[in-house]
Amino acid sequence: MTEKKTVVAANGVSIFQGNNLIMDEVSFSILHGEFAYLIGKTGSGKSSLLKTMYAALALREGEMKVADVAIRGITKDQVPGLRRRLGIIFQDFQLLTDRNVFDNLQFVLKATGWKDNDQIRGRIKEVLELVGLATKDYKWPHELSGGEQQRVVIARALLNHPEVVLADEPTGNLDPDLTDEIMGLLHSIAEKGTTILMATHDYRLLNQFKATIYLCENGKMRQVDSVAMPGNG
Ligand SMILES: Nc1ncnc2c1ncn2[C@@H]1O[C@H](COP(=O)(O)OP(=O)(O)O)[C@@H](O)[C@H]1O
Ligand SMILES: [Mg+2]
Repeated sequence: MTEKKTVVAANGVSIFQGNNLIMDEVSFSILHGEFAYLIGKTGSGKSSLLKTMYAALALREGEMKVADVAIRGITKDQVPGLRRRLGIIFQDFQLLTDRNVFDNLQFVLKATGWKDNDQIRGRIKEVLELVGLATKDYKWPHELSGGEQQRVVIARALLNHPEVVLADEPTGNLDPDLTDEIMGLLHSIAEKGTTILMATHDYRLLNQFKATIYLCENGKMRQVDSVAMPGNG
């Protein structure tokens, strides 16, 4: 067996919001193709940790590498390069409402340097097939269901073959049926080799798809095998 590459490594990291210490002594690593949950009650620091990973919050203490980029001391100029290596998915579908699905995806490709129209069309077709929306490229966001919109958001996150997908409560606005559907999709994407770190406070999801679990609690983060239900918050 070949050894899997480490795509995220954190060592002795502290997470801050302004001057407030949210978590400290955070150390973990995620391997290529791994699916990991980041769980914890609302306010425990999941989003703050993800934001630190994509350099929206400064890393002041400890060392962290995300997709081969050192986060400590990262400069403004280096941030776009980091973001291009990541797929970021939020709870709220953030599609541009003034253009159709194809144009939403094309917008991202053009903004990240794609020029060849055949290649652009080809890649958009690939990601839409991956999320089961191959025939909906001409639809406008308002013509899609919430689940379909979130699929487009996932497709958009995959456009540039990210080394890591960071998903912050990606099912937070979906009803249970759609949540299961989107979870199935995310797991199938991980099985095809994309690393995913997904924050959620919905502990129910952990029982359906087994994966590595990191729990944020009391200002620390640690790996756990399972969590007691219910996890409200
Ligand atoms: N923009 C912000 N400014 C100041 N404090 C914040 C901000 N966002 C979150 N916090 C605080 O940081 C802590 C962790 O929040 P957050 O990372 O959003 O947790 P979670 O994603 O687990 O719900 C909370 O105490 C929250 O109030
Ligand atoms: Mg959050």
